Amino acid sequence: MDAPNLLNPERRMLLQMQKNERSSWSLDEILDACSWTDQAVAVGAGHGLENHGYVSMNEVIITEIRLDENGKKAIASGLLEQRLWDWMNSVKEPSMQALQLNFERHEAGPGVGLLKQLGVSIDGGLLVATDASLIESTLKQRNDFLNSLPADLGALDESMLKHFRQRKGLISSLEQTIRTWSITSSGKAVENEKLKENVVISEITPELLQTDAWRDAEFRAFDVTLESTTPRRGRAHPMQALIERIRSVFLEMGFSELVDDYVQTAGWNMDALFIPQDHPAREMQDTFYLENPSKMELSDELMGKWKSIHEDGGETGSTGWGGSFSFDTAQRPLLRTHTTVNTIQYLAQNPKDACRVFSVDRVFRKEAIDRTHLPEFHQIEGIIMEEGANLQMLVTTLKTFYAKMGYPEVRVRPAYFPYTEPSLEIEVKWHGKWLELGGAGIFRPEVTEPLGIESPVLAWGMGLERLAMLVLGLDDIRQLYISDLEWLRQQPLL
Ligand code: PHE
Repeated sequence: MDAPNLLNPERRMLLQMQKNERSSWSLDEILDACSWTDQAVAVGAGHGLENHGYVSMNEVIITEIRLDENGKKAIASGLLEQRLWDWMNSVKEPSMQALQLNFERHEAGPGVGLLKQLGVSIDGGLLVATDASLIESTLKQRNDFLNSLPADLGALDESMLKHFRQRKGLISSLEQTIRTWSITSSGKAVENEKLKENVVISEITPELLQTDAWRDAEFRAFDVTLESTTPRRGRAHPMQALIERIRSVFLEMGFSELVDDYVQTAGWNMDALFIPQDHPAREMQDTFYLENPSKMELSDELMGKWKSIHEDGGETGSTGWGGSFSFDTAQRPLLRTHTTVNTIQYLAQNPKDACRVFSVDRVFRKEAIDRTHLPEFHQIEGIIMEEGANLQMLVTTLKTFYAKMGYPEVRVRPAYFPYTEPSLEIEVKWHGKWLELGGAGIFRPEVTEPLGIESPVLAWGMGLERLAMLVLGLDDIRQLYISDLEWLRQQPLL
């Protein structure tokens, strides 16, 4: 027989099987003969030899009946019925009352039931056994049964098995695959001279590579199935990674990024957007106003335009909001409540040039912190201004954006914002539910005309953290900001 191309463990196992006349080998016998401790090595070697046709493997599935928690206790301190029976025989008058004193509640109740099954009856408050020897023999049978465990299902008495299966926690069964290996005639025919083990190389050295020795060497295999530690390295926070992805999606769609300050005037944040000066969202409880400075100057000319729009609609044909417009209110500094404050200023500076602009930036609202709200969060804002821009184009743009982010199902629903007409709410489908992610619309003439904008402006503003919750599968928005290192390490690379 030719020298087979065997690995060391296979050589060792085959050699042992040749040396010993045993007709079949259990796993333990192989481990023992080969001086191995690792079962996986033995199973692997057996498998390899089987592939070469040198051994055959036999598998039987057996069901082992073993002691469960209560069964082990019964072995240690006796079955409940045994203990009751012993007690009955140790006292002069085994009354129910005495039993309740000597055994705990949870034992006394079921215990009496067990005794009755065994043939004990209650007579005038006393426990009486009619056939003591029958009881003794049943108890012996039960004890013997438990003491014989663990055992193969087939070897056990069926009525005992049925009895103990009905009782809680005494026994349980476990299916096991038992493998045995036998050497085949071609296995026997391999010359044992050829079964000398090779030197196994676990480290490659320059010397080894310089000679020809590596050609015939056996290398220690890596077990790629073993658990290992994940190498840790620096990485972007998932929020930052998401922002980067959003940036690249917008850049890909031909947008340029706008970055601007978050300290703004109420004038730009609200008045320019035709939000009435008595709008509830402008109240102190919804908006963070600055104490210092208490005023940021805006030009009278600009405020004059807003004033006329707000009071009576100016030249737009709108009726405006009525009332009287306050320059003081317009000049109050605040932390921006939305990033629309920045796109509108961009338009004011570039009223005539067609553009596509986006931003991903921080906004502030006086929100109580909970599972879905933070006082500081981010918006994904964008505008498209160009001749002929229309609602269809707005919807398509938003759908394209979300599709690129991995959410192909998007729908829009009518909504209301003081600065757009029509106004939309954007929803995406996630886990079968529609989730609102933001608002959009076409700026009203009350917004565009005072700034000298002539083409239609499509605009939208969407929550970034909401999107992050979808992408990362979160049910609590705060997770994004608590710097939980373990969680951060586990986040997928976006
Ligand atoms: N600014 C709005 C918000 O904060 C969103 C929006 C932006 C709506 C632009 C319409 C147009 O919810």
